[in-house]
Amino acid sequence: MTTPPDLLDPLEERRALQDTESKIAIAGHPLHAMLVAFPIALTFSTLGADLLYAWTGAPFWAQAAGYAMFAAFTMGVLAGLTGTAELLLVRGIRNRSASWTHFILAVMLLSLLGANWVLRIGDPEGAVLPVGLALSLVAAGMTAMTGWHGGKLVFDYQIGTRTDGSGRP
Ligand code: HEM
Repeated sequence: MTTPPDLLDPLEERRALQDTESKIAIAGHPLHAMLVAFPIALTFSTLGADLLYAWTGAPFWAQAAGYAMFAAFTMGVLAGLTGTAELLLVRGIRNRSASWTHFILAVMLLSLLGANWVLRIGDPEGAVLPVGLALSLVAAGMTAMTGWHGGKLVFDYQIGTRTDGSGRP
């Protein structure tokens, strides 16, 4: 007599897929959500400083933009590492295509932030016009898209939250 194939319980499968609660968290508060505020604010600060340099010509603004972009990149990488850990460790996050869309947007953004910082090393003033400012403009747009999409993960799909999944679309 042949042995029956291993049976799967679809309900158990479903339950595992509904598990989207953050694992990289302090007392249930995801570190990623705490960290993303920094690259978002610092990218827009860089754009502001670049515009002020273009307007006033004061070297201070070009230097401020260089430091702000360095901080935006390093904090963005830190936020990206916590987000990637969630993505790989939490089954319900890993199994949703929206999480991967956010990952792709974020990695493109981080490369842009890195390029915008490296460009400024050694010559923060010369780097602003026109390439630095152009990169800052594109980076601000990409940050808005990535941040908006991250919010969509949490508020529309309840990814990263403790839920039974009944409220998901
Ligand atoms: C590089 C890889 C990244 C991955 C894999 C990733 C993944 C995630 C995941 C899984 C969530 C759901 C909440 C959680 O589980 O913590 C999330 C939320 C979010 N992400 Fe990312 N993320 C990445 C980078 C970024 C970056 C660079 C930004 C900055 C623009 C960003 C902005 C956001 C925002 C604003 C939220 C919503 C946070 C909230 O309101 O609670 N993410 N991300």
